[in-house]
Order: sequence, then C-alpha cells, then structure tokens
Amino acid sequence: MADVLITHTSGLDAAALGAVRDLLDEAFDGDFSDADWDHTVGGMHVLVWSDGLLVAHGSLVQRRLLHGGHALSAGYVEGVAVRAGHRRRGHASAVMDALEGVLRRGGYRLGALGAADEAVPLYTGRGWRPWRGPTSVLAPTGVRRTPEEDGSVFVLPVDAALDLDGELTCDWRPGDVW
Ligand SMILES: CC(C)(COP(=O)(O)OP(=O)(O)OC[C@H]1O[C@@H](n2cnc3c(N)ncnc32)[C@H](O)[C@@H]1OP(=O)(O)O)[C@@H](O)C(=O)NCCC(=O)NCCS
Repeated sequence: MADVLITHTSGLDAAALGAVRDLLDEAFDGDFSDADWDHTVGGMHVLVWSDGLLVAHGSLVQRRLLHGGHALSAGYVEGVAVRAGHRRRGHASAVMDALEGVLRRGGYRLGALGAADEAVPLYTGRGWRPWRGPTSVLAPTGVRRTPEEDGSVFVLPVDAALDLDGELTCDWRPGDVW
C-alpha cells in the first residue's frame, strides 16, 4: 500500500530530502545536476512511499511566465520521477493528481513543465498541452530564444487566456531555464 505525502520543502527533514535526491539521481541516470535540484526545492512536493521506500516524487514551484503582455504566475512542475522497477503502476499519475490539485487551488494562472521524451504520454494523457509557439527566456541581457526547448514545453491552462502559437518566455535561473 502506497502512502502519498504532500508537503512544502520546509516540511521535509534531511533524511527525506536525501531520499528525494537519491531517487532523482537514480531515475535520471546521474544526469540530475545541482542546478536541477535547486529548481526542484522551494515549493510543494509529492512523495509516494511504499513499504518505507520512496518510489515516486514530483514538485511544484512558482515561476513567472511572460505571455501576451502579462507576467503570469505559473506552477512549474519539477523532479517527476518513479523508481525503476516501480513504473507503469500509476505512481507518476498519483504524483500528478496531487500536484495538479495544488496547481488548481494555489492561485496559479497556469501550469507548465519541460517534458522528457519518455514522459510525454503521461502529460498529454492528463490534458497537458504542447506549447506550439516559440519559447524564450528573460535573461539578464534581455529576452533570448530557447529554440532547443521548442516542442518540449507543456502547459495546463487554469484561468489564463493562452495562445499556444504565441511566444512563451520564462524567468531567468541558473542551469536549464525550462
Ligand atoms: C516518466 C515516468 C515518471 C512515468 O512514471 P510511471 O509511474 O511509470 O507512470 P504511470 O504508471 O503513472 O503511467 C501513467 C501513464 O503515462 C504513460 N506512460 C508512462 N510511462 C510510459 C512509457 N514508458 N511509455 C509510454 N507511456 C508511458 C501511459 O499512458 C501511462 O498509463 P498506462 O500505464 O495506463 O498506459 C517514469 O518512467 C520515470 O521516472 N522516468 C525517468 C525520469 C523521467 O523521465 N521523468 C520525467 C521528467 S519530465
């Protein structure tokens, strides 16, 4: 029987945070950087525990996305991963159910995320929409296109009017900006 915990980063002790980092390092095959970790904390987490083992995680952090002349408050999904050997059992769906609940009740105008290829069916199956227009970042030097990210950004509209063919610009951060 799996237990689903929803908490802010401040509600996780060092052992739980360590378990989350270990899961992400393992699930992303060592391709999970300190900058990725920095992006994953500071918001709401969903942890799925099974028999004392952390089997799934995801988090939601607040970002600003510029679109149509507005700086929209976005709930941005980070660090979604399920332990190998525990996949295709609905754990990622349980994580997304909980994160989307926070997203819809948390005052955000939209949800957004950058999807790994293997996770696209998970998100599209839940109603997340691929952003079709150009993506960019508000860098310290000004707005800069992020063509390498075009096609991998997905959004979940909450109450913002979105033109999916328009430009979507994320706020600046170290590491991967989307
Ligand atoms: C992507 C990932 C999170 C999916 O976790 P999961 O627990 O297996 O997902 P679920 O069991 O909840 O699957 C929900 C649905 O997503 C889709 N899906 C999930 N994994 C899939 C896969 N490998 N291929 C095709 N569809 C898949 C299916 O529609 C699935 O429903 P179904 O099993 O009824 O067909 C997991 O494979 C993972 O941790 N991968 C490595 C890290 C990663 O890429 N994270 C995503 C970052 S954006």
